[in-house]
Amino acid sequence: MRNGPVSTPPRVLPPNDPRQYDDLAGEWWRPDGAFAMLHWLARSRAALVPPATRPDALLVDLGCGAGLLAPHLAGKGYRHVGVDLTRSALAQAAAHGVTVVNGDATAVPLVDGCADVVAAGELLEHVPDWRRVVAEACRLLRPGGLLVLDTLNDTALARLVAVRIGERLPTVPRGIHDPRLFVDARELVAECARHGVHLRIRGIRPSLPGTLAWLVRRARSRPSGTVDGRQPRMKPTRSVAVLYQGHGVRHG
Ligand SMILES: C[S@@+](CC[C@H](N)C(=O)[O-])C[C@H]1O[C@@H](n2cnc3c(N)ncnc32)[C@H](O)[C@@H]1O
Repeated sequence: MRNGPVSTPPRVLPPNDPRQYDDLAGEWWRPDGAFAMLHWLARSRAALVPPATRPDALLVDLGCGAGLLAPHLAGKGYRHVGVDLTRSALAQAAAHGVTVVNGDATAVPLVDGCADVVAAGELLEHVPDWRRVVAEACRLLRPGGLLVLDTLNDTALARLVAVRIGERLPTVPRGIHDPRLFVDARELVAECARHGVHLRIRGIRPSLPGTLAWLVRRARSRPSGTVDGRQPRMKPTRSVAVLYQGHGVRHG
């Protein structure tokens, strides 16, 4: 018989199972942790959000997770409301100043036209019916309001890069994606148009030198320690075949 502490192996959950976010709850705010790339994406997404043009402007962050967008919105003048299924993530979002709503992005308990900005960062590719999220996002936007999002395209290249390669790197948790849920970029643009939002999209990827430097630093166990420190920047790409970002204003 062996003596000493017995460690419990991590439970293995099906791909895209939301309980993974509970198991990884301690990773959200670690800049060099399993959700590192979400920090880089949050900065890039926030750069698309202009300062609020009126008092009491509301930004609704669908699938907000632990509120990684919050520090990048500081000073822009929005009340940041985050909607998510995962309570453990919402507790952290609240600690970072987000007003949290525990709910489903396909049926958001907020009134029509309440939002000046709706953000949906790295959410659509996790939802079995992403069209319902788009409908909700557009319903929440006031006329003239802005939709900003990023997601993974429904292509063989995205499955290769984001899952087979990406999930073997320390920037993406293994098993977090179900590639069957990836979102065809043209269908997304068409769906947004049906709901009055002319979505403009562009491909994005992490800067290669920044990512290599980050990987080296991480391997040497010298984390930067701050979200904005020496984190890799997201760069525009000509192709939208893997990761892409969209923004568009709601008309009418
Ligand atoms: C990859 S994380 C992205 C989190 C955050 N947007 C960010 O970029 O840091 C996906 C998040 O979506 C949430 N989520 C998944 N399906 C959802 C749904 N139907 N409604 C609300 N949140 C959902 C998960 O709980 C998780 O927090």
